[in-house]
Amino acid sequence: MGMKGAVLCVAAALYAAAVQPASAQETASPSRGAALYGAGGCANCHTDVRGKGPEAAGGRALKTPFGTFFSPNITPDPQHGIGGWSDADFIRAMREGTAPDGSHYFPVFPFTSFTLMTDDDLKALKAHLFTLKPVARENRAHDVPFPFSMRWLQFGWKLLFFDEGPFRADPKQSAEWNQGAYLATAVVHCGECHTPRNVFGAIDRDRWFAGSTDGAEGEPVPNITPLPDGGLGKWTDEQLVSYLATGETPDGDFAGSLMAEVIEKGTALLSDADRQAIVVYLRSLKPIRGPRRD
Ligand code: HEC
Ligand code: HEC
Repeated sequence: MGMKGAVLCVAAALYAAAVQPASAQETASPSRGAALYGAGGCANCHTDVRGKGPEAAGGRALKTPFGTFFSPNITPDPQHGIGGWSDADFIRAMREGTAPDGSHYFPVFPFTSFTLMTDDDLKALKAHLFTLKPVARENRAHDVPFPFSMRWLQFGWKLLFFDEGPFRADPKQSAEWNQGAYLATAVVHCGECHTPRNVFGAIDRDRWFAGSTDGAEGEPVPNITPLPDGGLGKWTDEQLVSYLATGETPDGDFAGSLMAEVIEKGTALLSDADRQAIVVYLRSLKPIRGPRRD
């Protein structure tokens, strides 16, 4: 893993400064689009890693308590991907969770977090997606039983559980905190995995970042609130920043499972300032008792 750490560091140096505070960016910057694509985990979910499928061409199985969803093709193929989409189609999908034909997406697609991204960032992200190789691979139908399979039910779900973005900076907090909050909540969507869900599959905001016994793909996800015992209270800021860069934990272990993907394709490629800002945000959270780590 030492070798891997070194490779990640080189990659991090190449990408350093790619993601600046949400306010200081340029419109549709391709390097920002690439950084957002990595940090948002788009390739992680939209690539059939197990079946060695082509990048972003979909087909990854996502097991949930409601059934198994298969991610769609988001390459710029005009027929099977999103090649025919306008900027407005893309922004609507990410901001409102609504498809170009008006149907509602299931929240297994974390539009519930991406809704917070700014228009400029969404345009940069789309510009990056359109530089990917178009792949003519057909989408696989979800394997989700009735009644959860009914898309129109998502309309009610959104009324109950969905707060539409974009992110609004909190003027009472520092610029660094706001940068960290934006990255953690809108882009890297830590809360989608690190927060437990209610029976409707919606994030339980009262237990924000308190961990989940039944996270994405049915795996347990640790508590990352500043709780001294059972959370991140014993980690130093440096240890946290370094974990987000290399995956190495304070006791010399390495991040596994889904977190390894989040780091390798995402937070490792952000700048040190970005990782530092995420940690500033994490430290400001309320310590909440949650599922213990094993
Ligand atoms: C946790 C897994 C996951 C992540 C992370 C994820 N997606 Fe998705 N995405 C999905 C699933 C599943 C769907 C299909 C939802 C449905 O059918 O209702 C989807 C749907 C979409 C769609 C609509 C495609 C269509 O054909 O209608 C777009 C566009 C999209 N995602 C883009 C992105 C981008 C860009 C990112 C990164 C910022 C991203 N997704 C990250 C799982 C994910
Ligand atoms: C796709 C799901 C997912 C996302 C998104 C995600 N995590 Fe994780 N995270 C996990 C899982 C699963 C683990 C457990 C990893 C392991 O077993 O090694 C973990 C572990 C961690 C740990 C180690 C905690 C410990 O006690 O060992 C930290 C710190 C962490 N995540 C922070 C974050 C932050 C900060 C973000 C957002 C910037 C984030 N994670 C986004 C799934 C996720």
